[in-house]
Amino acid sequence: MIRINENYLKLKASYLFTDIARRVANYAAKNPGREIIRLGIGDVTCPLPPACIAAFHKAVEEMGAEKTFRGYGPEQGYQFLREAIAAHDFQERGIRIEPDEIFVSDGAKCDTGNFQELFSLDLAIAVPDPVYPVYVDTNVMAGRTGENRDGRYQGLIYLDSTESNGFVPMVPKERADLIYLCFPNNPTGATADKHRLAEWVRYAAENGSLILFDAAYESFIRDDGLPHSIFEIEGAREVAVEFRSFSKTAGFTGTRCAFTVIPRECRAYAGTGEPVHLRELWLRRQTTKFNGVSYPVQRAAEAVYSEEGRRQVRELGDYYLKNAGLIRERLAGIGFSCFGGLNAPYIWVKCGSDSWEFFDRLLEHAGVVCTPGAGFGSCGEGYVRLSAFNSRENVLAALDRIEDALK
Ligand SMILES: Cc1ncc(COP(=O)(O)O)c(C=O)c1O
Repeated sequence: MIRINENYLKLKASYLFTDIARRVANYAAKNPGREIIRLGIGDVTCPLPPACIAAFHKAVEEMGAEKTFRGYGPEQGYQFLREAIAAHDFQERGIRIEPDEIFVSDGAKCDTGNFQELFSLDLAIAVPDPVYPVYVDTNVMAGRTGENRDGRYQGLIYLDSTESNGFVPMVPKERADLIYLCFPNNPTGATADKHRLAEWVRYAAENGSLILFDAAYESFIRDDGLPHSIFEIEGAREVAVEFRSFSKTAGFTGTRCAFTVIPRECRAYAGTGEPVHLRELWLRRQTTKFNGVSYPVQRAAEAVYSEEGRRQVRELGDYYLKNAGLIRERLAGIGFSCFGGLNAPYIWVKCGSDSWEFFDRLLEHAGVVCTPGAGFGSCGEGYVRLSAFNSRENVLAALDRIEDALK
C-alpha cells in the first residue's frame, strides 16, 4: 500500500478559483448568450510590451543558429538578466543588491511556495489574513500546521489585516520565525509605508525571524513616498528575502519569469547552532531541483529594463491603474467603501454582507465575476476583490452593469 502525504488531506477541499469557476460555469449554462465579464482572477489581459517581443524574437533566432544556440543555462539565471535587475530595480534606487544575490525563476508562485523547504518543520509561521493562499497551503503540505478549524489552520499565527490597521498587520505579541508579508497586497491592494515596514524589520531583528517579502506588485507603486523594496529599510538585509515577478509588471503571466533576492547577510541556523547562509542553501536547492528559465524568456525579461521597455511597462501599469481608479470611483459613487487600487491593481470592496452571497448577486444580476474575500481568509469576509486586469471596454461595461444591478 502506497501511503500519501496526509498533510494534503488537511487542505481545504476546494481551491478558491475552482469554486468560482464552478459557479460561473453554472451561470453560463443557465444564461447562454449572456457575456460574462471577469474581474475575478488576477491575470493580465494586455499583450507583452513590443520591446520584450522584439528581444524574444531575436533570442529565438539565436536558438535556431548553430553559433548562437544555447542549451542549459545557469540555474540561477543568466548574468545579463541578474545584472539588469540589480542595476535598475535596486542600485538605481540606492538599494545595495548585487547580481549574485538574485535568483531568476519561472514564477513568484513557485518561489514563495518552495522557499519554506529550506526550514525545519517546527518553525512558527505567521501569515496575513486575508492572504495569497500559496503561503498557507505550501506550509500545510509540508506539515507545519494542524487541521483547518473554522477556516484557520491550527498552529499558524494569523496576522489580521483589517480596516482598523489599514490592512497592514501589526507585529504579533508572540514570536514568529517565518513571516510572510506582501505589499502592494493581494488581495486588499494595500501598501505599507517605510515606517510600518521598519516595525516589521525591527521585530524580525529582535526575534531572530525572517521576513518573506512578496513584492510581485511593486511596479504599480506610483506614490513616491512608498518603498518599492523591503531592502529600502535599514537592517532588512539581515532579516528579509524578497520575491519579485515579471508577471504583472510586464504581462509575463503566460511567459513565466520572476526572481528572488537573498542578501548575503541572510542566515538561519543548523541544529548545532552553526549559521548557514540562505543564499547558499537556496542556490543548492535550485541547482538540484530547477533547470533555469529559457534563454528567450530571460532576454525578453531583460528588455523590460531597456529605455523603451521601461516606458512601455510604465504605460502598461498606468493602463491597469486607470481601470482601478474607475472601479474605485464608480463603486464609491453607489455607496461602497473601496480600498486599494491606487498603487495596486486590486480594489478591496466592502460589500457589507456575506462575500459569497455578494459574489452570487453580482454574477446573477450583473454577469460580473469578482473574488469573494472569504476565500482569502476569515478577515476577508464582508469584502470582495475586484481586479483591474481587463480591457477598458470590459471594465466600463462591468461598471455600468454593476451600477444598474446594485444602485
Ligand atoms: C502576491 C502574489 N505573489 C505571487 C504571484 C505569482 O506570480 P508568478 O506569476 O510570478 O508566479 C501572484 C499572482 O497572482 C500574487 O498575487
